Amino acid sequence: MYNDSPADQSGTTPGATPNGGSRRTFMKQAGGILGLVMAPPFISQAERLTALSKKVAGVSPVQLKVNGTVRTLQLEPRVSLLDALREYMGLTGSKKGCDHGQCGACTVHVDGRRIVSCLSLAVMNQGKEITTIEGLAQGDKLHPMQEAFLKHDGFQCGYCTPGQIMSGVACVKEGHAGSEAEVREWMSGNLCRCSAYPNITAAILEAEKSMKA
Ligand code: FES
Ligand code: FES
Repeated sequence: MYNDSPADQSGTTPGATPNGGSRRTFMKQAGGILGLVMAPPFISQAERLTALSKKVAGVSPVQLKVNGTVRTLQLEPRVSLLDALREYMGLTGSKKGCDHGQCGACTVHVDGRRIVSCLSLAVMNQGKEITTIEGLAQGDKLHPMQEAFLKHDGFQCGYCTPGQIMSGVACVKEGHAGSEAEVREWMSGNLCRCSAYPNITAAILEAEKSMKA
């Protein structure tokens, strides 16, 4: 919101616009520029880096133990764990939302602790136990958190869901799921653009009981 007062349009007051144009005109122009800046990039920074890493020297073997299986990948040192999972191992359950550690869509467990895999380099995770959403179920038996998400409709488009579930499991294991307020606080790093938060919270509170049982 802005104030379109006559003083604002004089071009001489604080906040006056370039070239003497009205603030409304300026805001429209700025909005257009901001829209371009804020539009989702067609190719993310990590994707650009990954594409580049395939061309530059420095590719070397990296061993990752993911969901109990050790795989050796040929990776350039700058490849993120998220890209190693998605692009090199075909484990696309972990989602790339922001690619900047701000949305939680890429949450996985490393040695039992939740991390955002877009901010971790694959090479740093050698020798560690990595669990992704694909490794959560036991064969055909869903994890209690997955069952609770289904029961409580904890997802709409489902894009954030793998990260929510991985974070939810960790949240319970950390002992941070004792109340709705606590769940909301400790799940605040996981964003849901569909705003399925009440159902996600209900699912985690229910899973907290079944995971203890
Ligand atoms: S994609 Fe990793 S936090 Fe958003
Ligand atoms: S369910 Fe759509 S982003 Fe969360």
